[in-house]
Amino acid sequence: MSGIADLTNTACEADMYLAKMTEKTWAHLRSIRENPEFISRPTDADEASLLLYEPLARRGKPLVLAQVGQSLDGRVATPSGDAQNVSGRDGIAHLHRCRALVDAVIVGVGTVVADDPSLSVRAVSGRSPVRVVIDCNGRLPLDAKMLTDGGSPLLVLQADDVPPRNLGAEVVRLARRGQGLHPQDILDCLAERGLTSILVEGGAKTIARFIEADLVDRLHVAVAPLIIGSGPMGINLTPVERLAEARRPRISVFNIGTDIVFDCELRVATQRSEPSRESKDILMPHPA
Ligand SMILES: NC(=O)c1ccc[n+]([C@@H]2O[C@H](COP(=O)([O-])OP(=O)(O)OC[C@H]3O[C@@H](n4cnc5c(N)ncnc54)[C@H](OP(=O)(O)O)[C@@H]3O)[C@@H](O)[C@H]2O)c1
Repeated sequence: MSGIADLTNTACEADMYLAKMTEKTWAHLRSIRENPEFISRPTDADEASLLLYEPLARRGKPLVLAQVGQSLDGRVATPSGDAQNVSGRDGIAHLHRCRALVDAVIVGVGTVVADDPSLSVRAVSGRSPVRVVIDCNGRLPLDAKMLTDGGSPLLVLQADDVPPRNLGAEVVRLARRGQGLHPQDILDCLAERGLTSILVEGGAKTIARFIEADLVDRLHVAVAPLIIGSGPMGINLTPVERLAEARRPRISVFNIGTDIVFDCELRVATQRSEPSRESKDILMPHPA
């Protein structure tokens, strides 16, 4: 493939690519996202960028992407919680491209408490996804920006044994199962609303719940060249005793400029069911 082999290293089992997103390539990916049947492609599209983003843009079947932006030593913030600008300019653009290509973005309430994010698409052109906050125990701060910013629709997921709250956003109550809400129940609830391509953006506990339920198809780890030294990690899975038990996904590595993206295939074939054709209450992502 032209223009993508610049970093190929035959000693390593990962395929490595140099991705240089262009306006034409991004416009093409957005066209695919709007119309999955779209096949014509610009002759000078950046092949590596297509490789990275086309699986998200083509919405043939349900897809769950988890993404972490972290330092070289796997941190996502300082111990005091400063999480601003861990990712470089291109890492942020990458995250916003992922948001623009999915139907919905999920965060845990811990991320809202820590960062008060808007979860909108700003660094690139594109529509903002529906926002979903997992707030099992009803502790979403009433002054959270996303409750009043007039952005894309917001769904707050709560356990059904917690008193309903009047948040000015749609609150969906799901059965409490085991440690809280089961990620499959969350995906089913979103699929009923026509939301089937999902970005699980964090934090560590939320991503872990989806990975441990074996519901993450792809994991993007965007590594920025800084060493924070201590502080929270991007993913907190249940400890394993032996390295033989560690997950070793097939990966492709993309140099996107200021950051390096590890694109990990956590599940090669999806076993999730397609959403029902009778899906009601279709909740569309924000158009801008
Ligand atoms: N760099 C990045 O890519 C990135 C992205 C996002 C966030 N972050 C960082 O991550 C940190 C926050 O992460 P975190 O792990 O502390 O919190 P989190 O994952 O954002 O939220 C965890 C909380 O959400 C609720 N929750 C999530 N999944 C649930 C489930 N399946 N069932 C029931 N409840 C569920 C629980 O709330 P309850 O405790 O109320 O039960 C849980 O404690 C912040 O420092 C933030 O800056 C980094």
